[in-house]
Amino acid sequence: MNAKQMAGYEAAKYVKDGMLVGIGTGSTAYYLIEKLGQRMKEEGLHIQCVSTSDASTEQAKSLGIPLLDTNDAPVLDICIDGVDEVDPAFNGIKGGGGALFREKIVAMSAKYNIWICDDSKRVETIGAFGLPIEVLPFGYKHVVRKLEEAGFTSRLRMKDGAIYETNNHNYILDTGYTNTRFGTDYKAMEAFVSGLLGVLETGFFLNTTDLIISAGENGVTTIENKNKA
Ligand code: A5P
Repeated sequence: MNAKQMAGYEAAKYVKDGMLVGIGTGSTAYYLIEKLGQRMKEEGLHIQCVSTSDASTEQAKSLGIPLLDTNDAPVLDICIDGVDEVDPAFNGIKGGGGALFREKIVAMSAKYNIWICDDSKRVETIGAFGLPIEVLPFGYKHVVRKLEEAGFTSRLRMKDGAIYETNNHNYILDTGYTNTRFGTDYKAMEAFVSGLLGVLETGFFLNTTDLIISAGENGVTTIENKNKA
């Protein structure tokens, strides 16, 4: 079993009968969803899920996992999702798969959040991955200009030679933030970016998870967040 599979399968154990479950997006969440489908078949587990992306919706549907619209399930028991980078203070970056807005809505709806990852995602200081920002297509260069004035680098995400569009039909700016005037004050940075006209959401998930399940050469590591905001 690879590390992402170990983490995804381990997290599936936290899902209990009758739960409303937020299911994340990405190559680690893939294994979570796979395992949930398996548990439904083998153990008769009954759950209903809210998905964070079209890709996860398709996978869940193919496994017969019942899905609800987020507006029909505003409070979830648990949400399990991947993460792109996370530091020891539980400052996380998400959005590598472009699903950050939906992921944040679903995460904020859940009473308990778990991030699943391979050990490479756990870093001393976040920054190398950058910060994905979902922006409205109309006037996105205004956001680029404001970001660059504040010291961010910014690149419009592309895919197969065309501008990448999120499931919400928006664009993603992949930004670098290690040389901004905010230093490592991520809260201030998030407030600044979120306040820019045209920004829908940022990939900062600052102290929003209750648990990290990480896997690697030494097996599965579970890290509890005792100081969740
Ligand atoms: C999707 O937008 C992301 O937030 C993913 O959850 C994140 O990129 C982790 O993806 P992997 O599990 O594929 O590494």
